[in-house]
Amino acid sequence: MDFAAEIAKLKKEKNAVLLAHYYQIPEIQEAADYIGDSLALARKAVETTADIIVFAGVHFMAETAKILNPGRKVLLPDISAGCSLADACDAGELARMKQELPGYKVVSYVNCSAKVKCLSDIICTSGNALKIIESFPKDEKILFVPDKNLGAYINRQTGRQMKLWPGSCQIHDILNAEKVLKLKISKPHAKVIAHPECNAAVLEIADFIGSTAAMLNFITQDPAQEYIVATETGILHQMQKLCPQKHFIVASNDETCACNDCPYMKLNTMEKLYRCLRDESPEIILDPETIEQARKPIEAMLRLS
Ligand code: 13P
Repeated sequence: MDFAAEIAKLKKEKNAVLLAHYYQIPEIQEAADYIGDSLALARKAVETTADIIVFAGVHFMAETAKILNPGRKVLLPDISAGCSLADACDAGELARMKQELPGYKVVSYVNCSAKVKCLSDIICTSGNALKIIESFPKDEKILFVPDKNLGAYINRQTGRQMKLWPGSCQIHDILNAEKVLKLKISKPHAKVIAHPECNAAVLEIADFIGSTAAMLNFITQDPAQEYIVATETGILHQMQKLCPQKHFIVASNDETCACNDCPYMKLNTMEKLYRCLRDESPEIILDPETIEQARKPIEAMLRLS
């Protein structure tokens, strides 16, 4: 079956919009109406007038789309496409922690569940995290949830001492700085570009740190011809499209491993996407109370960024 053609047909018939994250497989990125980082996709989810939003990404992203546009049907091709960061923070544990930390503001990275968002004062993405944190007075007590690497990076950049939840992204956290350094030494003209979910040692040797969208923007402005890319492999498709003359090398721990492929992002396939549009399932369902509570910190973020 020509899945790309069938998907295009179903999208038209059903007035559906396909939003895809940069970590999706190239075929899905090509089939999408909009590709973006978490922040851009959340914005698109607010703006869309389509009846159906198909989210080619992971569960928390589709949930965010549903929270922001509850009148639309939101579909996720594989409902088990989770996120190790979201799994690292249980809402019950966060509620207990909040009781132990009276007076703290909770800033949650968007990679968390709707229930965790309900307990948060404001949400941030990697694209706006510094701006969101800097919107608080310097002496504000902040609990940053759930990415300890992004939180530590913000602490270093701002001189703050936010308390950090001990979560991390399994793809970014596992990257080994020694291996990245070896690669950098062997490619003296290449620049290292890294996502802030990477551990501190990798960020230390990076020439540029930013969200997926910021990295894409960087490579189009920067004069270098070669880059070592410390993030998920899906983004290389857009990098190569934007700068076909440049060379991109994945910063992996081992050339034979698939350790830079997010096992959740890569659960989505063209066939699952086709079936999900055809059957209008799996659908993201949230109770109205959760939607109402989770919406407030997300809207607070969108107002600020
Ligand atoms: P971006 O917001 O940079 O797209 O990152 C999303 C994400 O989940 C990274 O692991």
